[in-house]
Amino acid sequence: MLIGIDLGTSTCKAIAVNGDGDVVAKQSRDYPMINLRQGWAEQDPAEWWRATDEAITALTASLPERGREVTGIGLCGQMHGLTALDATGQPLRHAILWNDQRAAPQCDRITERAGGLDELLRMTRNRMLPGFTGGKIVWFRENEPELFERTAHVLNPKDYLRFRMTGAYATDVSDASGTGLFDVARRVWSDELLELLDIDRSLLPEAVESVEQTGRLTPELVRRWNVPDGTPVFGGGGDAVIQTTAMGLVDAGSVGFTIGTAGIVAGGAASCPDNPGGRVQVSCGNAPGRWHCMGVSLSAGGAFQWLRDALAPVAATEPISFDRLISLAKAVDPGSDGLRFLPYLLGERSPHVAPEATGTWVGLTPIHHAGHLARSVMEGVLLNLREILEVCRDAGLECERVIASGGATSESLWLQMLADVLDREIDVVTASSEGGAYGAALAAGVGSGRWRDFDEALAGVGVERTFAPEREPARVYDRIFPVHRGLYDGLRPVYL
Ligand code: XUL
Repeated sequence: MLIGIDLGTSTCKAIAVNGDGDVVAKQSRDYPMINLRQGWAEQDPAEWWRATDEAITALTASLPERGREVTGIGLCGQMHGLTALDATGQPLRHAILWNDQRAAPQCDRITERAGGLDELLRMTRNRMLPGFTGGKIVWFRENEPELFERTAHVLNPKDYLRFRMTGAYATDVSDASGTGLFDVARRVWSDELLELLDIDRSLLPEAVESVEQTGRLTPELVRRWNVPDGTPVFGGGGDAVIQTTAMGLVDAGSVGFTIGTAGIVAGGAASCPDNPGGRVQVSCGNAPGRWHCMGVSLSAGGAFQWLRDALAPVAATEPISFDRLISLAKAVDPGSDGLRFLPYLLGERSPHVAPEATGTWVGLTPIHHAGHLARSVMEGVLLNLREILEVCRDAGLECERVIASGGATSESLWLQMLADVLDREIDVVTASSEGGAYGAALAAGVGSGRWRDFDEALAGVGVERTFAPEREPARVYDRIFPVHRGLYDGLRPVYL
């Protein structure tokens, strides 16, 4: 039995996967987001640990042998967060998360320091995007120098869990790629960039392959979770990368769409993509010797969740639920009667690097009601993903087949609309709803020898449902797409 853990943006999910690759139990626990200022997003690492500990304690208690059958643990989590620890391993401040935009000016300076974008891409294959860990380290050093002085370790969020579980300071190559400080082509830290930025290499953890073991559970946790002595913990992966792996997308050919809080368009590659202009994010893949290419929209399901939360207080007689919002959206025709939405509530990363952008409705008239708001938010999110697909294809991502996963895909309207917006068939694959947690469990399974490699581990992943595009809506979205694409350029002066 393997345990996969996904430390998400709002929830820690722990799942148990048996030797046949079936999910047999799951538990999750939530934690709050801390938004001290506009554009800032933080979380308390102590809350991550509380949620994880509670989820795993409940998970192992629910297994037939109460945890004694566990053979390995794999970790996955939100990427790019900065978790600063002192020399004793105590967090020095709240973690600064992937969707925090405060370090945008530092990212510009890092690019300059590297000798320009092309030089930076040569060293790491990635732009230093606002949200990446590298810019946050520089922000932290400039703005909180006393705390920075006391910092001995900088970890990605899931690797803080690893530290609490095993005492090891380690990350995996896919999550390391998202720091912007990693030489993705060579799968090692970029000493060249670290030197230019005067960042001490010893602050950063060892980076191992996703299937490598990084340590064993402490005796105290072995007792508390009732698992075998020395249960091994494996590298795992950054959520956006390993959830693509869990969809069966290790090699080139298929593209995965994930609609969670963020929206991700991603696929595998047999060699490290060049990423000219740095328009996509390039990472090491979870399988040794494979790479991964993706475009990330910061607000996808997150924009829909915002709408629900924004409408909730005024709907006192009938609180607005996701189901209600979906049924309101269903009742509106494709195209939302001319209402367009740009989902840049947190700024944007792809298809435009635009930390200054904001969420925008264009075309509001008195005929529009809550259903139009709901449908236009979904359409704006999906048209944005179509635009990201174009950017990814320009970067060399092959797209013979489209696969979907993520929280929002439990709702078939999202999937049907994605098929219509792309005018392509969408396959939803088994186990995809468990996303990164499933990929993390498989990484542990490959690492502990249950499977030879990811290809063998993923052999059982099959198509659960297929959504075919419908002619008329697809025609409407094809007509709207160029209008949607033009809106960002038109609105830039407003955003700046
Ligand atoms: C990936 C990204 C998000 C976060 C949170 O680059 O920013 O997917 O990892 O899920």
